[in-house]
Amino acid sequence: MDTPPCAELHLHVEGTLEPEMVLALGERIGIPLPYADAEDLRARLAFTDLQSFLDLYYANTAVLRTAQDFAELMAAYLRRAAVAHVRHAEVMFDPQAHLARGIPIEEVVEGLAAGMALGAELGVSSLLVAAFLRDRPAGEAMEVLEALLRAGAPIAGVGLDSAEVGHPAAPFADVFLRARAEGLRLTAHAGEEGPASNVTEVLDVLGVERVDHGIRAADDPDLVARLREEQVPLTVCPLSNVRLRAVGSIAAHPLPQLLAADVLVTVNSDDPAYFGGYVDDNYAALRAETALGRDDLARLATNSFTGSWLPAARAAELA
Ligand code: HPA
Ligand code: ZN
Repeated sequence: MDTPPCAELHLHVEGTLEPEMVLALGERIGIPLPYADAEDLRARLAFTDLQSFLDLYYANTAVLRTAQDFAELMAAYLRRAAVAHVRHAEVMFDPQAHLARGIPIEEVVEGLAAGMALGAELGVSSLLVAAFLRDRPAGEAMEVLEALLRAGAPIAGVGLDSAEVGHPAAPFADVFLRARAEGLRLTAHAGEEGPASNVTEVLDVLGVERVDHGIRAADDPDLVARLREEQVPLTVCPLSNVRLRAVGSIAAHPLPQLLAADVLVTVNSDDPAYFGGYVDDNYAALRAETALGRDDLARLATNSFTGSWLPAARAAELA
């Protein structure tokens, strides 16, 4: 099955760190890793929930140190995305995961930007999104935002990720207000493991333009009606949701129901190195295991350009 040309709007660059790259980078910088080989690391990708994934995801960032490491990571993702027919990617990174390890923010963004320049040569345009960790204090997120602004980091927007349950988004309202005042675009994870009310929270309290995951919105008919009326993009990640047990199976995924309700649903891979597939694999799984047909997949791909932060004329050209 051919994946239609699409944009990828929900992708964590740290989540594209394939087991082979973890081992190669670990060897290059000479740090001991607790894995015998890539297969041993692959065997540990059996997650029970979001936190069990996040523990491994943050641990593996230990191999990312220099601008060159970040450039190679981003370039490898964009090369793979090109194969998946991705024409444009809006890529999140977690500045705090690297700052906490003493990596200067300039080193991270310089490397990511270099990788993005290589991707552009392959015909994949990209934007960078700095995601704040919702299980860390909001004051720390504000400091990181100020540091990114001081460094002139080439970010298009900000997001909010990490552990959802027990970590409300509301304390981050000032951070998002400040980002908006700087002309940055706004998105946030919500309704992945947490309830539909978390989706309402990020819309009303953070003022986000789109919602990452947002699948639990399907539990609340009034919220579904609002998402349809306001055409709020949802960046849905089917394989991620199954791997982290947010849904039981692709066949039981609420995406077809949300699409049928005319919500602006999109398909994305989230952390492809960890969840068993890139965006083309996500489209293929939906085609194989749900009643969605070729026209539905084409509509999902069109939605991905509509929901992107590209200028409308450019989005229409790509769609
Ligand atoms: N959810 C929350 N935080 C994350 C994710 C996710 O799927 N991936 C990377 N950080
Ligand atoms: Zn995510």
